[in-house]
Amino acid sequence: MTAPWWKTGVVYQIYPRSFLDTNGDGVGDLEGIRRRLDHLAWLGVDAIWLSPVFPSPMKDFGYDVADYCDVDPLFGTLGDLDRLVTESHARNLKVLLDWVPNHTSDQHPWFVESRRARTSPKRDWYWWRDPAPDGGPPNEWKAAFPAGIDAWTFDSTTGQYYLHQFLPEQPDLNWTNPDVMRAMHDVLHFWLDRGIDGFRIDVVHGIGKDPALPDEIPEWRGIPHVALNEQPSTHELVRGFRRLADAYPGDRMLVGEVFQLFSQTHERYFGANDELHLAFDLPASVATLWEEAAWRERIANVAARLDPIGAWPTWVLSNHDTPRHRSRFGSEARARAAAVMLLTLRGTPFLYAGEELGLEDAEIPADRRLDPGGRDGCRAPIPWTVGGTHGWATARPWLPWPPDAGERSLERLRADETSILHLYRRLLALRRSSAALREGSIALLDAPDGILAYERRADDERWVVAVNFASEPIAHAVAGTVVVASDGAGEGRAYRRILGPDQAVVVRRER
Ligand code: NOJ
Ligand code: CA
Repeated sequence: MTAPWWKTGVVYQIYPRSFLDTNGDGVGDLEGIRRRLDHLAWLGVDAIWLSPVFPSPMKDFGYDVADYCDVDPLFGTLGDLDRLVTESHARNLKVLLDWVPNHTSDQHPWFVESRRARTSPKRDWYWWRDPAPDGGPPNEWKAAFPAGIDAWTFDSTTGQYYLHQFLPEQPDLNWTNPDVMRAMHDVLHFWLDRGIDGFRIDVVHGIGKDPALPDEIPEWRGIPHVALNEQPSTHELVRGFRRLADAYPGDRMLVGEVFQLFSQTHERYFGANDELHLAFDLPASVATLWEEAAWRERIANVAARLDPIGAWPTWVLSNHDTPRHRSRFGSEARARAAAVMLLTLRGTPFLYAGEELGLEDAEIPADRRLDPGGRDGCRAPIPWTVGGTHGWATARPWLPWPPDAGERSLERLRADETSILHLYRRLLALRRSSAALREGSIALLDAPDGILAYERRADDERWVVAVNFASEPIAHAVAGTVVVASDGAGEGRAYRRILGPDQAVVVRRER
C-alpha cells in the first residue's frame, strides 16, 4: 500500500472542551481524551484532530490563541499533550492540531506589543489603518460574528483602527510581513519537531488580503469579509507551509478550512500538488440538504473540480460550527444513512466526535448561551455513561447535555449491537478492509427517482452504495450481498432489491 494515511484513513474531530472532563472544572481536558483513546481504537478511526488547546482567553473558545507553543492550563500541560501523542501513536492514531494563522488573541504578546505605539517594532504585524475621512472604519468589511459588526475596531491609544475578520479580540495578522511568516513557521516547526502529524489550518483562505483593502462589490455588501476573501498571496504562503511540512518524514498532513460563499475556489488550495494535502469544501459540505438531487450534484461537483487536478476530496458533514447530522437531517434513520455516505464516498471522511452516538444539538437556554457565533448547540458535552454525571467529573459541564444524554451515552449504545455506534464501527471496519472503498474510483449510477446510487471499484472489487432519500420504499435492481445496512436489516444476505425510507445499503456486487 503506497497511499499516505491521510488518503486512506478516517479523521475524528475532537472538540476538547466537550469531550471529557477529568478534574471537575466542567471543561473537557487532555487527560479526558487520553482516557478515551481505547474507545477511538475500538471504533476504528485513524487520526484525531484536536480543536485548539493553546493558551487562550477563550473569547472564541480557543480560536483566539495567546501562545501558539503551549497548552492552556484548562486542558493540561505540554507534558500531557506529549503523553497523549505518544499513547495515540501506540494505538496507530495520528494526531493533528488546529493551527490558527489568520488571527491571534488580542492578548497575544505580539498584539499587545503592536497596539502599544505606532512606532512599535511589531506595529506592522497586524493591519493598522487611519480612520476614514469621516472618522469611521477604513473600509466596509464586516466581521463574521457577532452578526453585523464591522471588521475594524478603533484603538484610542494610538488613534487607529485594526482589522479583525472575527471578534474584536481576534486581530488579523499581517502575513505580508516576513517576520510574521518566520514566527509562524517557527510554530509549525515547534509542533512537527514534537511529533505532531499535521494541522487543520483555520480559515486558511483568510490570510492574504488585497493590499488596497477595497470595499466589497455592492452585491456582497454586508457579507462577512472572510467568506469572500480570496487572494493570490495566500497561495504563495500555503506553498511555504507545504514545503515546510513535506520536509519532515512520515507523511505530515495539512488540511485547510476553506470557507468561501460564492466563488467555489476550494480546488485552488491544492495548487499544483504543492499547496494543501486536503481542503474542506465549505460551506457546501455541511449545507447539503436531505435530497437525492442535492447529493448527486455534490458528488459530481467534487469529482468535476478535483479529478482533473488529481486532488483528493474530503467529506465532512458536521463540525463544531454547524448542526449535527441528526439535527440537520431530521431523524436517526437519516443520520444512519448519512454515516453510510460519509464512510463510503471517495475521499477522506472527517467524523465529528459524538456523531457515532447519534447526538442531537443541545437546547441552550438563554442564560447559558456562551458562543458569540451562536454555535453552542453542536458543542454539547459527550455523554459517556448512562447515569449520574455521564462519566464527567462534574454534574454541570460548561454547556448543557444534548437531548436524552443517558440513552445516547457510549455505555448504553455499546451494549446495543443494533445502535448507530455499532453501525459506525461496522462501516469503519468495512472501509479498512476494502481497497475499493478506501481508494477506489467512484461512479454515480442510474437509479429510480429518490435513490442515490454509486459504485466504488478497485480492480475486480465492486461495491454499490444506495441511499433512499424518499419517505416510501423504492424498488432498486442490483445483484449482490448486503454487507452493511443503515438499519442493520438484511446484512449478510442477498440484496432484496428494495430500499426502505431513509435506508442506505452497501452491497458487494457479484463478480
Ligand atoms: C473557524 C473555526 O472553525 C471557528 O470555530 C472559529 O470561530 C473561526 N474559524 C475563527 O477562528
Ligand atoms: Ca477539566
